[in-house]
Amino acid sequence: MLTQDELKQQAAQAALDHVLPQLQPDSILGVGTGSTVDRFIDLLAPHRQEFRAAVSSSERSTRRLRAAGIEVLDLNDVAALALYVDGADEIDPQLNMVKGGGGALTREKIVASVADRFVCIVDESKLVERLGAFPLPIEVIPLAREAVARQVRQLGGQPCLREGFVTDNGNQILDVSGLNYGDPAEFEALLNNIPGVVCCGLFAISGAQVALVAGQDGVSRLE
Ligand code: 5RP
Repeated sequence: MLTQDELKQQAAQAALDHVLPQLQPDSILGVGTGSTVDRFIDLLAPHRQEFRAAVSSSERSTRRLRAAGIEVLDLNDVAALALYVDGADEIDPQLNMVKGGGGALTREKIVASVADRFVCIVDESKLVERLGAFPLPIEVIPLAREAVARQVRQLGGQPCLREGFVTDNGNQILDVSGLNYGDPAEFEALLNNIPGVVCCGLFAISGAQVALVAGQDGVSRLE
């Protein structure tokens, strides 16, 4: 029986196998955040000469990429990304996701939006029939925290401030449990419209294009 850590390693290896044949010497790769992505970065390190550079979705991944000898570019200096590789906290069969367990959701959504393809890498515990069990992270401007929390309660959620956590953008995170999304893309748009919400962890208006899901019987590919 493989552990969750071993499955994350398998997902990371599958991402490398998926991405490497598509990389050219001038390619720039979008890189997400989290423990699965950390493993992907480590596997990518020996191949750093096979592509130009990366764009990172967090200070954490930037540090790890640079330590691996991979150049990290500012997104402002990059016009296009063919691929973005990232994990998820939940993913459904339509490839809608909940992300932000690591608190990097805003930059993740921005970098992913520039990429042609989002390659999601997860262990099988993240694959769910219906999103909603994992508390939804919402990044908020600190001044608006309580105003956003009140509106989220009206939508049926129970917001909880992520104590002692400040995002890379200097904001706070509300982790919201008890939400019933119905249509995840519609719910994402609803949350995006609340003043003070910087970003919510629903990735449904634009989900993943492919998911590599590591399970006890190997890695399966959803698209
Ligand atoms: C970070 C994220 C991560 O992708 C998500 O939390 C999954 O992390 P891990 O690979 O450690 O399970 O959205 O903001």
